[in-house]
Amino acid sequence: MNAEQMNDTVNAHIPGEYEKIKEATAGLKFNMASDLYTGSLLKTLAASKPSGRFLELGTGTGLATAWILSGLDVNSSLVTIENNELLIDVAKKYINDDRVEFLLADAYEWLKNYSAEKFDFIFADAMPGKYDLFDETIAILNRGGIYVIDDMLAQPNWPEGHDNKVKDFIQRLEERNDLLITKLNWSTGIIIVVKK
Ligand SMILES: C[S@@+](CC[C@H](N)C(=O)[O-])C[C@H]1O[C@@H](n2cnc3c(N)ncnc32)[C@H](O)[C@@H]1O
Repeated sequence: MNAEQMNDTVNAHIPGEYEKIKEATAGLKFNMASDLYTGSLLKTLAASKPSGRFLELGTGTGLATAWILSGLDVNSSLVTIENNELLIDVAKKYINDDRVEFLLADAYEWLKNYSAEKFDFIFADAMPGKYDLFDETIAILNRGGIYVIDDMLAQPNWPEGHDNKVKDFIQRLEERNDLLITKLNWSTGIIIVVKK
């Protein structure tokens, strides 16, 4: 009977903006949006960092942005970066929240130049910050900070050769002795990393 309670269907506490963003996302035929499981996890983890500084690399249309914001306390802030104006405009249209700053920018350039305060939580959902400029990204995460990635299990939209990239990246994560990692064989394949 406990198995019934432990079903992982996400049907509660979905952010208010979610349905409208999802509709707009489908309209744009954007197929890289995070799923409900990832969203729910992001929200739960976000709540662990009151007065936290949050960073999302790869806003897309803002589905994960909405989830992260729904876990944030009033004193926290989120910077989210996207280089596709069409996509970030959807997020801007539907998410009205003073705690979030939307940046239309190239995350490669942004990461190379960022030297201000570090972050407590990073959702790295683009090539820069994950497969590229990983060291630079971990360098701007505070001790005790959480770094989250999804899509670590094979996805239908993976380009050819991406599986090798993923394997190399997981190995790289496992080799670092300043990071604690847990791999979740769930949703699209999530890895949760905490910086020691
Ligand atoms: C996996 S999608 C993000 C999905 C989004 N986080 C969500 O949950 O719905 C990756 C995003 O990264 C963006 N992106 C790719 N390269 C980028 C770059 N150099 N700088 C900023 N954004 C980039 C893509 O346009 C795409 O929207």
